[in-house]
Amino acid sequence: MVELRLPENSRISPSGKEWEAIGKSKITRPFRIYRYDPDTQNNPRIDTYHVDVKACGPMILDALIFIKDHIDPTLTFRRSCREGICGSCAMNIDGVNTLACTRGLSEIKGDVHIYPLPHMPVIKDLIPDLTNFYAQHASIMPWLETKTMAPDKEWKQSIEDRKKLDDLYECVMCAACSTSCPSYWWNSDKYLGPAALLHAYRWLVDSRDESRNERLDQLEDSFKLYRCHTIMNCARTCPKNLNPAKAIAEIKKMMVKKRSGKKP
Ligand code: SF4
Ligand code: FES
Repeated sequence: MVELRLPENSRISPSGKEWEAIGKSKITRPFRIYRYDPDTQNNPRIDTYHVDVKACGPMILDALIFIKDHIDPTLTFRRSCREGICGSCAMNIDGVNTLACTRGLSEIKGDVHIYPLPHMPVIKDLIPDLTNFYAQHASIMPWLETKTMAPDKEWKQSIEDRKKLDDLYECVMCAACSTSCPSYWWNSDKYLGPAALLHAYRWLVDSRDESRNERLDQLEDSFKLYRCHTIMNCARTCPKNLNPAKAIAEIKKMMVKKRSGKKP
């Protein structure tokens, strides 16, 4: 029988701390936030912060920054651009993987539950360890591979060919899709996951790239590509409205063409 073991410290302790609101407003909302401190031997806990929503900005990230600045400076999370561009503030908000800076407070009814992206090792509080995720991205060679002599000025691309990159290049590598995928949860050591495969497809369809066959050969593996079972959580959750599942399906079609001797 398969024995499944939970990692140490993975169970959430029931004894979270309650943090009172600061300021005079009576309009507060409870934020129930996952806390984990690797420097203690304690299990994670859920702390509750009562936040004066009139005092902070309209987005979930504004509330997190407000908590850090005014209530609890130890709360730890990643953020940079606050414009949905850097991808660093991805977390699980109200049960959905998304970006804290583009999710409005008004979009959530009742208590606001915030957890780190699921099924990743947690470094601290809302910060997952993305080492494997980035290594998988690097493995698909996310750059232009050419064999012919470089042109004097630039590698040209027609308007039509450039359009083939739409709905792919916008990915901000937030990992919301990969960490929402059950197949990735169980096989993230071998399955590349939706984000890395969307990027793989972005380079496969780039008219300037001259390594399409080599790229496909690299993906021809029972785990790297074929663990996608079209569950579609990736497309549902992507905060940039991209569709990694479609990109994966297109790669599979290219594989079929290549195997039958046609130009993929
Ligand atoms: S495809 Fe969407 S969810 Fe996935 S990493 Fe890119 S932006 Fe994030
Ligand atoms: S802070 Fe950059 S995407 Fe949210």
